[in-house]
Amino acid sequence: MLTAKYNYQETLAASVKANWRIEDIIGGDKRLDFTKPFMPESLARVESLDFLNADEKILLNQIRGFGYLYTFGVVEEFILPFVLDHVRPHLNDDDYRTRALLQFASEEAKHIHLFKRFHQAFVRGFPVECAMIGPSEAIGAEVLRHDPLAVGLVILMIEWMTQAHYLGSIRDDGDLDPLFKSLMKNHWMEEAQHAKLDTLIVDALAEGRTEEQIDKAIDEFFEIGGFLDEGLKAQAGFNLDALEKAIGRKVENRDEIIAQQHQAARWTYIGSGMVHERFKATLESLSPRAAERIAEAAPVFA
Ligand SMILES: [Fe+2]
Ligand SMILES: [Fe+2]
Repeated sequence: MLTAKYNYQETLAASVKANWRIEDIIGGDKRLDFTKPFMPESLARVESLDFLNADEKILLNQIRGFGYLYTFGVVEEFILPFVLDHVRPHLNDDDYRTRALLQFASEEAKHIHLFKRFHQAFVRGFPVECAMIGPSEAIGAEVLRHDPLAVGLVILMIEWMTQAHYLGSIRDDGDLDPLFKSLMKNHWMEEAQHAKLDTLIVDALAEGRTEEQIDKAIDEFFEIGGFLDEGLKAQAGFNLDALEKAIGRKVENRDEIIAQQHQAARWTYIGSGMVHERFKATLESLSPRAAERIAEAAPVFA
């Protein structure tokens, strides 16, 4: 078990230290710069689309940035009740645990709010409307109807993913819009604690389970992954609609572009978490078979 590596007291102390205010990130004279990309190319994958000129590639990149705001808003809307449900039955057991998990929930509520503020700023400055999948309540309800261990693993994967996104491709990218980059940086700072707390949550949920029960939870992990993946495909279609409106023309090879952008989204929201070393270590500690099953599926999301 990885539990020994992390503990509630240290995670709480780190959270209190990292804690920022929305007002420090967006608002006042802080504006998105729509002449710059919002997403790193490793996640957006727009450079290979030869039918677009440089400005049009930036438009698609920004549409993908808008999708990032929305997608994280959606997942955090189910993370929040999940964490609250986990903390509630044991409020009196360990004060550090209670405070660390409530801090986690409070930060996630703040992130939902922050992503909404960026969402509004995007809508004000972008030339066309971009449709998004949803509603988020329905997506959350579908995810949360599954075994809490399966949901916990999906959340663990998502929160390690934010760490990989920032450190792996955002921090050192000098071309990105500074405001969007600061959103990613601040999110990364607080998510670092969430990923550790998720590890503790997963360990607690897995405790006492047989190999067969863990295997069943992995089945459900794949069910949730498949459901989210369908959403990513639908979103790739909406993104192309928005791009066509923004550039004022229809594209020819629509299915091909949707497939390419769907794959980019798969890597952004699923694959980059599946292969994260810490996520893999938790799986390995749960059951080598669980780790193996997820490693086998990972190339589909690369
Ligand atoms: Fe978050
Ligand atoms: Fe989080």
